[in-house]
Amino acid sequence: MGGNRILTNELLEEDKLQNIRPETLEEYIGQSEVKENIRVFIKSAIMREESLDHVLLYGPPGLGKTTLAYIIANELGSNIKTASGPSIEKSGDLAAILSTLEPNDVLFIDEIHRIPRFIEEILYPAMEDFYLDIVIGGEGSSRNIKIELPHFTLIGATTRAGDLSSPLRDRFGIISKLNYYTEEELFKIIKRTSKVLKTEITDEAAEELAKRSRGTPRIANRLFKRVRDFALVEGEGIIDNKILDLSLDKLKVDKLGLDETDYNLLLSIIEKFNGGPVGIEALASSIGEEVSTIEDVYEPYLLQHGYLKRTARGRVVTEKAYNHLNIEKQITKK
Ligand SMILES: Nc1ncnc2c1ncn2[C@@H]1O[C@H](COP(=O)(O)OP(=O)(O)OP(=O)(O)O)[C@@H](O)[C@H]1O
Ligand SMILES: [Mg+2]
Repeated sequence: MGGNRILTNELLEEDKLQNIRPETLEEYIGQSEVKENIRVFIKSAIMREESLDHVLLYGPPGLGKTTLAYIIANELGSNIKTASGPSIEKSGDLAAILSTLEPNDVLFIDEIHRIPRFIEEILYPAMEDFYLDIVIGGEGSSRNIKIELPHFTLIGATTRAGDLSSPLRDRFGIISKLNYYTEEELFKIIKRTSKVLKTEITDEAAEELAKRSRGTPRIANRLFKRVRDFALVEGEGIIDNKILDLSLDKLKVDKLGLDETDYNLLLSIIEKFNGGPVGIEALASSIGEEVSTIEDVYEPYLLQHGYLKRTARGRVVTEKAYNHLNIEKQITKK
């Protein structure tokens, strides 16, 4: 059945083996405002014995949207069913998912901005009034039928809130933005991962790794695993600063956490476009990445940390980036 492909209950591959992913709000580190609000909304929904309002989680990849969705379901004591925007291709796909829902279930739709517009419209009455409006029959004899749905909570996740249509966005009662994590928060996440993976890391090394994780738990965890490999093979199994430096060098992660693609991107603007401004399309083709990958994955961090600026005429590399990359700014003569 096609439904199996769309509707899965599986966690991502990255977390299957070890329980790195926190399961309760208590264990979820950082994002304190979002967390505290959600804690209240969950408690109130439980007190009212009603389903939680629909939740939209947005922010750059790897900051914990999927994790938080699972935690919300867990804290509600509800079942979670998951689907992803790109896998919903026909209106029947979405109708099939909705018709499996039971009272107070959580339906998690990842990459919700990628649901085609004409299918999205099925969600409107489902979210607002909990019914499914479907057309049956063929040409000439088609008619609409309404199917009542149990009250459920839709949790949508997206890296691009701006790509959601406003009617869809307006139907979420709770909209939360996840932000990059501070070094202190990443430090705690790294220490937690070290416990779960039973691999010791010194406080110094954990601080250093936190600095070099691009504000992102997924990156911290991924680097942790690779550094652990170096610690096992080339060291004593314990992660200290020496092993950390050596491995992050080999992984091409610099002192501030910028990686090879960040370098490609900044250097390409500097070398090929004289520091900018350069349009996103030209930039994307010059480094061989998709526009959306640059916009969703690379740019947000570089912009937030002041390596890159967005102007009306395109992207511009900042003084800070020149300094960090140790390049003297070229001044072109007229
Ligand atoms: N607040 C947190 N505390 C501890 N670990 C976290 C936290 N947030 C995320 N993680 C870890 O980071 C990893 C990535 O998180 P997650 O998959 O939830 O990100 P995401 O926002 O859904 O990313 P994407 O946009 O790519 O789907 C998870 O494996 C989880 O273990
Ligand atoms: Mg996710």
